[in-house]
Amino acid sequence: MSELQCDYYDISRFIRVAPTVMLGQNVIIHGFANLYGCRVGDGTRIGPFVEIQAGATIGARCKVSSHTFICSGVTIEDEVFVGHGVMFTNDPDPRATSPDGSLQTALDWEQVPTLVCRGASIGSGAVILCGVTIGAGALVGAGAVVTRDVEPGAVVAGCPARWMRSRDRASQEVS
Ligand SMILES: CC(C)(COP(=O)(O)OP(=O)(O)OC[C@H]1O[C@@H](n2cnc3c(N)ncnc32)[C@H](O)[C@@H]1OP(=O)(O)O)[C@@H](O)C(=O)NCCC(=O)NCCS
Repeated sequence: MSELQCDYYDISRFIRVAPTVMLGQNVIIHGFANLYGCRVGDGTRIGPFVEIQAGATIGARCKVSSHTFICSGVTIEDEVFVGHGVMFTNDPDPRATSPDGSLQTALDWEQVPTLVCRGASIGSGAVILCGVTIGAGALVGAGAVVTRDVEPGAVVAGCPARWMRSRDRASQEVS
C-alpha cells in the first residue's frame, strides 16, 4: 500500500479541531474542516472544507455545508441551515497593512458582529456582510449579498438582497 493510500484512510489527519474549540455532543465534522476557538452545539454537522474562526458560535442541530467560512463575531442559533460556500464577513473596511506598512493584526481591525437566528436557512454562495441580523426562520437565496437585516420568516435574494416573499407561502396567500 502506498503512503498516499494510507493517508486517505487516516481521515483524522485532515480535520483540524484546535484544543480551544468547545464541541457539544454528537457533532459531526467532515474532512478538511478547520476549527479554532469556536463553539459548536449538540448534533451539528460541519461539512468538508469549512473554516470556523475563534469567537464564532454555532448552535445545536445546525447543518453547515462544505466550503463555508464562518468568521469571528458570527453567532448562529439552533437549527440553522448554511449552504455551500457561504461567506460571512466581520470587517466593513478591511486593510492588509497598518499606516506603518506592517501587516495588520487582530488588534487593528474593528470586528462587527452578525447574528443568524433560529431556524433560518442561507442558500449556497451567499455573502453575509457584517452587522446584520437574519431573523428566525428566514431564507436567504443562493448567491444573495445580504447588506441589511432580514425580517423573521422572510425570503430574500439578489444583490443587494431584497424581500421576495414570506417563507410560509400559506400565510402569504391568506394575508
Ligand atoms: C430564493 C429562492 C428561495 C426563491 O425560490 P422561489 O420563491 O421558489 O422563487 P422562483 O424560483 O419562483 O423564482 C422567482 C423569481 O426569483 C428569481 N430568483 C430565484 N432565486 C433567485 C436567487 N437565488 N437570486 C436571485 N433571483 C432569484 C427567479 O429568477 C424568478 O425571477 P423572475 O420572476 O424574474 O423569473 C430560491 O431560488 C433559492 O435561491 N433557494 C436556495 C437554494 C440553495 O442555495 N440551497 C442550498 C442547498 S443545495
